Amino acid sequence: MSHIPENTNIPRHVAVIMDGNGRWAKKRLMPRVMGHKRGLDTLEEMCRVCSNLGVAYLTVFAFSTENWRRPEEEVSFLMGLFLSALDKKVKKMHANGLRVKVIGERSHFSQAIQDGIVAAEELTKNNKGLTLTIAADYGGKWDIVQAANQLIREGKTEITQEDLSAKLMLAEAPEPDLFIRTGGETRISNFMLWQMAYAEFYFTDVLWPDFNETEIKKAFASFTQRERRFGRTSEQLPIEQQRP
Ligand code: IPE
Ligand code: IPE
Ligand code: MG
Repeated sequence: MSHIPENTNIPRHVAVIMDGNGRWAKKRLMPRVMGHKRGLDTLEEMCRVCSNLGVAYLTVFAFSTENWRRPEEEVSFLMGLFLSALDKKVKKMHANGLRVKVIGERSHFSQAIQDGIVAAEELTKNNKGLTLTIAADYGGKWDIVQAANQLIREGKTEITQEDLSAKLMLAEAPEPDLFIRTGGETRISNFMLWQMAYAEFYFTDVLWPDFNETEIKKAFASFTQRERRFGRTSEQLPIEQQRP
């Protein structure tokens, strides 16, 4: 059963599908990949804003298991961007006290990227600031299956929800309170399926490279208005969590 968080005002864990980079570039008659470049700047800015607002975990979808289907040049540009970010951007994040983690199937990435991921996690592991988790070659279905396979390897023949939860990527983080998708689509695209069981959903047409402090504050304001019941009735909630 989903754990009921105590404070409902600032989301402890925000999960984001950073969508709309390609359309942002297309609107400006630029190659799609320029949108990805700008999107990375937005991510940096969102880390700063979320840290300042007191968010503890920010989890972003950077590359899905399905994104390998994109044209080869785009995939290869994204890999180059990822590699350079693992070095340069992560150094800045480290200076700002962020903890960086990467979730997903690492084996399909080049050795350089795999080494970069290990180095980034190692460099930032003792930091006490915001935990930024980057989902790369990640899929919600993949996550559930890898968790189940771990349990099978341990010899389990029957499992509980707790057993499975404990083996998922991000098991150590609370489940997302707020899920944001930019770029106008209203689907989950195989992101954290299990962990999103009780997340509040927020969709905006704003394209990811245009997303900014004002826009994320709008998302948080919407979140604050929501009455999170977790199955209970409104009257059962503590008075400060009841919404008019
Ligand atoms: C999201 O932006 C980034 C990745 C999937 C890597 P898109 O590239 O999907 O942008 P649109 O949806 O085509 O505009
Ligand atoms: C979802 O965006 C994945 C990421 C943002 C990394 P997509 O743009 O790939 O999603 P679909 O294919 O439109 O659902
Ligand atoms: Mg898209």
